Amino acid sequence: MDAPGFIVERSACAKVILCGEHAVVYGRPAIALPLPELRAFARVQPSSDAFRIIAPDTGRSLYLAQRPRQAHDPLARVAWAALDLLGASPPRATLTIRSNIPIGANLGSGAAVSVAIVRALAAWFGRELSPAEVSALAYEGELLYHGSPSGIDNTVIAYEQPVWFVRGQPPEVFSAPADLPLVVADTGVVTPTYISVGAVRAGWERDRARYEALFDAIAALVSAARRAIESADLAQLGQLMNQNHAYLQQLDVSSPELDTLCLTARAAGALGAKMSGGGRGGNMIALARDAAHAEQLAQALRDAGSVRVHLAFRKQAA
Ligand code: MEV
Repeated sequence: MDAPGFIVERSACAKVILCGEHAVVYGRPAIALPLPELRAFARVQPSSDAFRIIAPDTGRSLYLAQRPRQAHDPLARVAWAALDLLGASPPRATLTIRSNIPIGANLGSGAAVSVAIVRALAAWFGRELSPAEVSALAYEGELLYHGSPSGIDNTVIAYEQPVWFVRGQPPEVFSAPADLPLVVADTGVVTPTYISVGAVRAGWERDRARYEALFDAIAALVSAARRAIESADLAQLGQLMNQNHAYLQQLDVSSPELDTLCLTARAAGALGAKMSGGGRGGNMIALARDAAHAEQLAQALRDAGSVRVHLAFRKQAA
């Protein structure tokens, strides 16, 4: 363990939602996967000044010297929540955040920063927190980023394993016995999650029966997707991803750019393709037949205008 006074650095991964986004806000199950190669980092180093959080990449700088604890800034809120749990006061130190997770791309950048902050502060005070504790603290930040988050992002990032998630219940971590060769492709359209979550909420308030039926249909396919993963039936999983994308279109959270990338991936032989996360921009995911095919899909997606392509999940063991 690192003693206080030493420099400590901790990190947290990005994530994708494999299936079930949006319906998960309304109590249905969803499956999320970590993206370990994309990460946010939080480094704490001693300072002669009061405790300060800086994020050079986004130009943020804030002091945590004053109350109230119920800060409106997610970084401050999470840091205060962590300090409260640790029974500590803000140290004379600077916490610096860096991240290679694109912001506003539905890859969980906000939750990853929160998890990294919590881990770094715990390490500074020589403590190891459980994934459940880290997740609960990071959720404080999600409340400010999202409005009504299900908690799936902070959960999959804190556990850094595939999770079966139902709001309000402990997550189930599980293993995928076969490789899941996924390609993650960014439309380049930046859309904060609260926009699409708010749009679904407005639609649900207008026509609850229609939305509840769509959420039930998504829940059924998420259960089928888990069975497909556990029996290594990638063809079936791909079809379920396509179906999930169609339901998300009906929820009006896809976009022309996401639809184009999904069609491109399918035309290039993807077993399935769907938007992932909040939608209206951000990333889509495509399931390849194998690692070599994933490279081909990646090229097709770049040619179709994706600004960033990431290959993931060649191994997905819990
Ligand atoms: C965001 O990654 C997933 C959503 O379902 C929102 C949430 O669950 O909080 C869109």
